[in-house]
Amino acid sequence: MLVLTGIGTLVTNDVTLERGKLGVINNAALVVGDDNKVALACEAVNLPRELRTNAVDIGGRAVIPGFVDSHTHLVFGGDRALEFEARMSGKPYTAGGIRTTMSATRGASNDTLAENARRLANEALHTGTTTLETKSGYGLSVLDETRSLQVAASITSETTFLGAHVVPPDSQIDDYVNLVCGEMLAQCAASAKWIDVFCDRGAFEVDHARAILSAGAKAGLGMRIHANQLQHGGGVQLGVELGVASCDHCTHLNDADVSALADSNGSTVATLLPTAELCTRSQFPDARRLIDAGVTVALASDCNPGSSYTTSMPLVISLAVLNMNMTCEEAVWSATAGGAAALRRQDIGTLKIGANADFSVLNTPSYIHLAYRPGVKLVDAVFRLGGCVAGSLL
Ligand code: NIG
Ligand code: FE
Repeated sequence: MLVLTGIGTLVTNDVTLERGKLGVINNAALVVGDDNKVALACEAVNLPRELRTNAVDIGGRAVIPGFVDSHTHLVFGGDRALEFEARMSGKPYTAGGIRTTMSATRGASNDTLAENARRLANEALHTGTTTLETKSGYGLSVLDETRSLQVAASITSETTFLGAHVVPPDSQIDDYVNLVCGEMLAQCAASAKWIDVFCDRGAFEVDHARAILSAGAKAGLGMRIHANQLQHGGGVQLGVELGVASCDHCTHLNDADVSALADSNGSTVATLLPTAELCTRSQFPDARRLIDAGVTVALASDCNPGSSYTTSMPLVISLAVLNMNMTCEEAVWSATAGGAAALRRQDIGTLKIGANADFSVLNTPSYIHLAYRPGVKLVDAVFRLGGCVAGSLL
């Protein structure tokens, strides 16, 4: 059993407490049971006497649920620093850069891919990410997608088959779609929980995306989609029509897209990836418009070597507040409970009684500092299932 007291601000995301969207308890205590779940979250003065003896006083620091980064691409070889440099000199971002990483990925051993993915997952952990989703998508052959997913499965249970990232060189699109829906899916399904398609300019059209997602669903995978990142298209509407868990990017939306997402009643989440806009110098989507329409919004890092080479959810939160019109409260919710909703998980993203005891201790008194102090290291210690897995309380 672990008992923390002296918590300046405890974010629980428990609306039943009737303390706002974040279920904030000030001057709080948090108790983790022997089952590694949250056993109690309360004001410290209400902590039962018998639990006080071994309590650890954290001196007024804030505690928040672990971040749930519901969109990353950690399995890849090499990097694209030169492409980034060229982009910063005026060259536009295109989907075609994915093929550069495909070559490096195909040339990397399983050990190299696993080491790189683990390095990034560890980097994410140190900034407070306790659960992350990650995708294949840089192999683009049956062999390389299969081994990419095996690597992904070695770092997380939230694995996504993204064979339909782009069409590899020397393939015809119809042939490649047939391969993705056939042999590639058959080989990859065992290591994947989700299927995803990049439905956008330079990648896949709506009809191909429909065929691929439907084939994945038939094979028992949950669906998610990269949609409306580079231009307006039918990806978001397709996602809602198919009932995907999440439409990701959502950079270019019209009113019909926003209504479709809202009409899904939270069943399809809009996952916004502001570091992708930051690193491609693109216009940020307006989260306010989505939230005001009643859409459930998640925030994620999109960590990948092309459009967003960062694992930092605190940076994502700052950008969402400073550039996408989210409140501090909304951004913290979207990076925790919102990410859990995008993965259709009830056990993570909150510190409700019975949830996994995944949380971070910040070196500040409030969650507000996550947006207020952009780029500053604010996470002192990270706990997963009640155990300290990064940093320390000292
Ligand atoms: O989510 N948009 C598609 N895929 C990635 C970028 C991939 C790359 O450029 O390597 C993304 O931004
Ligand atoms: Fe992505």
